[in-house]
Amino acid sequence: MKIVIKKDYVELSKFAALEVKNILEDNPNCTLGLATGSTPLGLYKELIKLYNLGEINFSSVTTFNLDEYRGLNEEDEQSYKYFMNDNLFNHINIDKNNTFIPNGIAEDVERECENYEKLIGEKGGIDLQVLGIGMNGHIGFNEPNQELYLNTHLETLTEETLNSNSIFFTNKEKMPTEALTMGIGSIMKAKKIILLISGKNKAEVVKKLVSGKITTDFPASILQVHNDCTVILDEEAAALLNK
Ligand code: F6R
Repeated sequence: MKIVIKKDYVELSKFAALEVKNILEDNPNCTLGLATGSTPLGLYKELIKLYNLGEINFSSVTTFNLDEYRGLNEEDEQSYKYFMNDNLFNHINIDKNNTFIPNGIAEDVERECENYEKLIGEKGGIDLQVLGIGMNGHIGFNEPNQELYLNTHLETLTEETLNSNSIFFTNKEKMPTEALTMGIGSIMKAKKIILLISGKNKAEVVKKLVSGKITTDFPASILQVHNDCTVILDEEAAALLNK
């Protein structure tokens, strides 16, 4: 696991955008794995800027998002499908037919998950996976547990995740308690991973991430054995490293 420390969130986001740009330059038909949440918003802003400057071309790119809330459809402003359209896809030249997110309202969830996993394989796997990390060490919505799932599956969200993510919901009661998420195996199969972590509230999380131990109590710890994973931190998130 390689660690890169940038001065602040803006610099972190710019660095991550260059990583994406490099992948697209090497392979314009590449497949990106994308995340939602607060952390990648700066990256998406930078990608839109690069697109507007004519420096990046998404016309042949395919994307797979990590996860989607169970029960929300794409018109719902809290759905990750809406989030991705609103924060990235509506502003770049990507073909939306090539943007995939698990269907949160699928009647047969098991089948939806199987098909999602299969589709990632059919598209040749993920070339670059963008990740954020939860306060409990989750990646995607793979929550700490005794066992972790390899493939895309339905996950029950923990109290901690519900609390952290409730900031996005005006009506907390309406927040889904389950999500469809790529599994740990789906994530680990990505050829390259960039994990973005920002802010002092994530400093403890960073410390655990690089602990040198792997545990299902902290799912992101498995990233320590990925052979091309770069953790991009800002100085605040890196504050407790080596302490
Ligand atoms: C989002 C996702 C989650 C988030 C994580 C951090 O698609 O899969 O793992 O990356 O919860 O969220 P933020 O960035 O809001 O702190």
